Amino acid sequence: MRLDYVSIFPDYLAPLRLSLPGKAVASGLLELHVHDLRDFTHDRHRTVDDTPYGGGAGMVMKPEPLGEALDTLEVDGVTVVVPTPSGRPLTQALAADLATRERLVFLCGRYEGIDQRVLDHAAERAELVEVSLGDYVLNGGEVAALAVTEAVVRLLPGFMGNAASLVEESHTDGLLEYPVYTKPAAWRGHEVPPVLMGGNHGAIAAWREEQARERTAARRPDLLHASALAGGDDGWE
Ligand code: ADE
Repeated sequence: MRLDYVSIFPDYLAPLRLSLPGKAVASGLLELHVHDLRDFTHDRHRTVDDTPYGGGAGMVMKPEPLGEALDTLEVDGVTVVVPTPSGRPLTQALAADLATRERLVFLCGRYEGIDQRVLDHAAERAELVEVSLGDYVLNGGEVAALAVTEAVVRLLPGFMGNAASLVEESHTDGLLEYPVYTKPAAWRGHEVPPVLMGGNHGAIAAWREEQARERTAARRPDLLHASALAGGDDGWE
């Protein structure tokens, strides 16, 4: 998979070279390219933003540098991911879908947002996916792009050392993960649940399933309703 990032703060994306994505680059599974949006400007001040038509607070990202970046990156037919609080919520299902693409191009916005024509034009030539990390506002799309990248890249075939851990983790089956324990069996007055030490695999599986359901009901009842109503579908196309 090839991943491109366009940002006015390319250093923000340096963590991509560490940890999981870094390992995938070293193994040849991933190709990463980070681009400075200001390299696609042509004025002395390398301007990337301007005041909004219609007035209002803040600045809007100008269309020309972003358009030129998309031209240079030859995005026709690829998937352009734009992090924004007004996007589609990032879910495990969306991450799994994005993991099937050959190439993702992330456009990281700042300020009040990106001129809508950049998005409209991108949607005409590429698959446009606007993604939100959640119902809160970050200063820009870089942190969200990192989060989407990590959620996607760890699903690439051959990426995780232990594929079974992908199957059992939170959200894969629409439930939160059951609690986990390791040695010692007793620690500071807290014991490991005896069922986990009994060696009865059927009983262990049943206990974990029950724990996952109870935890989901207590912490995220919306997930139980969503999977019951829509078979896990989040309602976006
Ligand atoms: N950019 C700013 N806030 C964001 C959010 N909540 N999700 C994705 N991108 C963002």
